[in-house]
Amino acid sequence: MNYKNILVETRDKVGVIQLNRPKAMNALNDQLMDELGDALLKFDADEKIGCIVITGSDKAFAAGADISAMAKYTYMDVYKGEYISRNWEHIRRVRKPVIAAVAGYALGGGCELAMMCDFIIAAETAKFGQPEIKIGTTPGAGGTQRLPRAISKAKAMDLCLTARIMDAAEAERAGLVSRIVPADKLLDEAFSAAAIIASMSLPIAMMVKESINRAYETTLTEGILFERRMFHGTFGTEDQKEGMEAFLEKRPPMFKNS
Ligand code: HXC
Repeated sequence: MNYKNILVETRDKVGVIQLNRPKAMNALNDQLMDELGDALLKFDADEKIGCIVITGSDKAFAAGADISAMAKYTYMDVYKGEYISRNWEHIRRVRKPVIAAVAGYALGGGCELAMMCDFIIAAETAKFGQPEIKIGTTPGAGGTQRLPRAISKAKAMDLCLTARIMDAAEAERAGLVSRIVPADKLLDEAFSAAAIIASMSLPIAMMVKESINRAYETTLTEGILFERRMFHGTFGTEDQKEGMEAFLEKRPPMFKNS
């Protein structure tokens, strides 16, 4: 696929995808979402990649789904079509860790896309919100579901009903983002976190991701059982042997991803 709305590069073991529609604040149209899904699944299948970073520009991670494209859609267009939300499902199929590096606006679908990533590192300039109500629609890619889990029902209701925009400091206090850094350090911070993750055993990192995601999908008892089975499963890997031996021999581990 020839990408027109994203830039893709590889930095050592880190796959980087930059949303790139500067004239429209990275508004997420169907072409962009198709390209993003394609790039994500390619990095996921690439054995050399251990972690993926999705970022935008300094002004906007993404200002939401593309309103000019959506404005004329009918119910049948969106219900039957592949676009507006069906082609957003690709990201959920990615098994490797994905970090969102957010500067500027992450609104509507932009906030939802960031929340679909495994964690968010934010620049001090980041602004989050679900302002769909102002344009006569609701969040459509997880905003009403992930936001209450991430930041509480009260704050989710507040943001979705009033369309208020939350700054990076509030987002960190509320638990939406894992770290805040000065804007000029955002990519360095995201790349160094991604490089650390990519230096770990990939299958073990995938098991950690799967286990934490389980916490959203099931009861505590089932989740703890799932975690225990994953933990037991690590003892069937060579990387568990290597990791523990390396610790005892006081040397860095040499993981083989097996
Ligand atoms: C299409 C958009 C856009 C969007 C911005 N632009 N957001 N185009 N879809 N979501 C375009 C503007 O039309 C404008 O184009 C250019 O980007 C710059 O935007 P301005 O508004 O001039 O910039 P500024 O005054 O700095 O305001 C920035 C902003 C504002 C606060 C981000 O643009 C804004 O409120 N955007 C809409 C946010 C929103 O409602 N998001 C939710 C969408 S619904 P021109 O050509 O005039 O220069 C959604 C549903 C998700 O996301 C469903 C998922 C399945």
